Amino acid sequence: MKSSIYQSSKNVFLDTVNVEDYIQLDRVSTIYQSLKDSVRKPLKMILLFGKPGTGKSMFLTKLYHDLSSIQKVYIYRTPILDESEFYKVLAQDLFGIKYKGELNFTQFMRVVEEYETEETPLVLLDEAQLYSNSLMEKIRLLSDTRKVKFVITLHKTEKEDLIAKAHFQTRIWETIELENASSMELKIYIQKKLMKANCFDSANMFQNKSVNLIHKLTNGNYRDTNKLLYTLFDIYSYYDEQNNYTAINRNHISNKIIEMSAIHTGLVNA
Ligand SMILES: Nc1ncnc2c1ncn2[C@@H]1O[C@H](COP(=O)(O)OP(=O)(O)O)[C@@H](O)[C@H]1O
Ligand SMILES: [Mg+2]
Repeated sequence: MKSSIYQSSKNVFLDTVNVEDYIQLDRVSTIYQSLKDSVRKPLKMILLFGKPGTGKSMFLTKLYHDLSSIQKVYIYRTPILDESEFYKVLAQDLFGIKYKGELNFTQFMRVVEEYETEETPLVLLDEAQLYSNSLMEKIRLLSDTRKVKFVITLHKTEKEDLIAKAHFQTRIWETIELENASSMELKIYIQKKLMKANCFDSANMFQNKSVNLIHKLTNGNYRDTNKLLYTLFDIYSYYDEQNNYTAINRNHISNKIIEMSAIHTGLVNA
């Protein structure tokens, strides 16, 4: 059986980070450009921060993809929490040196300092809020050698905000903050995402009224919006399979179904 447009639309909102899915949005593209510019500044370490679901991992993935053909760049999507393991993985990946047993900071520092190259390898660390303060401090010391450059992402929550301030208030950090989308940006995000998957009819169903309601429910958070719309198109597929045409209007998204989806995804309490 041919899968319906609602089924395809639903899959558009699976919460995954693939570089092919990157969407150009004015503000996002401007921030991305400043990230690329900062990467070229020699001494700076870059801290990408923002609430969960604001697109940090997507940015890191995009950066990795755009730079990997022109320079040495390494991405670590999951933190390597064991210190010795962290140095060993970097020694292997960046310098091609394999270690058996422990590798401590002093030893690794020596490796880094002795390394001769015209090109500074760029290390992208996602989810850096999981690294210990002591490891973060060592990452800073590694950065100071100018032999390695780091871009790290950090979740911003109320509590971590303070930690971030105390910890990252040195001049060597360049901070780039990602925020939730505005209602207009959210509309473009939703429509571009659907159009990329050839779901033009679905894209047309999102008029300002529906998008404003979605924005109210998700605050413009990309991850919450994905969840909401995944559920929404799941409900549409269900009604479509039942041939229940009274429940679904093909011209615009029903506010009732948006609200139903918000309850399903836990964005609002029933
Ligand atoms: N620029 C973008 N283009 C396309 N999709 C995006 C973009 N930014 C965020 N997303 C979507 O939002 C979801 C959450 O983004 P993510 O990068 O995982 O956020 P974070 O790492 O800040 O928690 C992703 O799965 C992706 O589907
Ligand atoms: Mg992330």
